Amino acid sequence: MTVRRSIQGMDGPEPLARALRDAQYIADEGLATAAYLALALGKPLLLEGAPGVGKTEAAKAIASVLGRELVRLQCYEGIDAAAAMYEWNFPRQMLAIRQAGDDYVNLYADDFLIARPILRALEAPRDRVLLIDEIDRADHEFEAFLLEFLSDFTVSIPERGTIRAAEPPVVVLTSNRTRELHEALRRRCVYHWIGYPDPALEAQIVMMRASTVAQDTAQRVVRAVGALRAEPLAKPPGVAETVEWAEAATLLNAQGVPWPRAFARAIGVALKDQEDLDYIVPRLDAILGAA
Ligand SMILES: Nc1ncnc2c1ncn2[C@@H]1O[C@H](COP(=O)(O)OP(=O)(O)OP(=O)(O)O)[C@@H](O)[C@H]1O
Ligand SMILES: [Mg+2]
Repeated sequence: MTVRRSIQGMDGPEPLARALRDAQYIADEGLATAAYLALALGKPLLLEGAPGVGKTEAAKAIASVLGRELVRLQCYEGIDAAAAMYEWNFPRQMLAIRQAGDDYVNLYADDFLIARPILRALEAPRDRVLLIDEIDRADHEFEAFLLEFLSDFTVSIPERGTIRAAEPPVVVLTSNRTRELHEALRRRCVYHWIGYPDPALEAQIVMMRASTVAQDTAQRVVRAVGALRAEPLAKPPGVAETVEWAEAATLLNAQGVPWPRAFARAIGVALKDQEDLDYIVPRLDAILGAA
């Protein structure tokens, strides 16, 4: 296999993991390896995982260590190629026609072209990282379109011709796995499933992201969140919730609410689903006692 891209001194998963940590992101060996391989082989990185496990943040950190701008394409139901690639600024074209009177107007000049994330990434692949976020929210048609784009990295504008990337841009795709993605799309990418971090790692993340939180509070919140995730919840807390719960409880504790009461009082930061709360609140003392 040929290594198509040298990654600015980050020669291997460990150096990359160190650089990511400097960018405030803690990657375990699996994620660091997948990210390294995707970058070195010039392939898109596909990250799947539950909500709040750090998928979007991973893409931001990768852009940051490469010193590139992150261009984000947020997917949603009904998203189409125009929203992803480019659109013509119709009101502006109309205005130009009106102002020009009898003069000729080139309606397909740069002035009228609105570049959307995919075109922006293609135009400057060395300066930008393309994040295609939550691709599972888009429909199958859009996925097929993306597959085509990820095969040849071109955008064809009928009025202008085909724009080809000077080199394959760095692309990160994320999915919450609300549905299966096409086999063909997966095959194009380096794939990594981001699970919940192990307790030691999650405590490190809490300490890194919430500077006010003491180490024993971080460890305790991580144990409590681990216990919550073992319960049959509709929306188990992600890493973001762990960080916020630790911060919120620390704040209440500073105002005189004792431990572990402070965790219980701040539970609305960790769980945001009424049925989950109804189920957990009566059990919370036991969960916190064990944590
Ligand atoms: N490995 C990590 N290192 C540092 N911070 C992390 C890590 N994982 C998660 N976080 C924290 O959790 C927050 C949520 O992460 P992020 O938004 O990337 O989750 P996500 O997987 O994209 O979730 P969603 O599916 O809801 O979009 C981040 O803002 C960050 O504070
Ligand atoms: Mg996200």
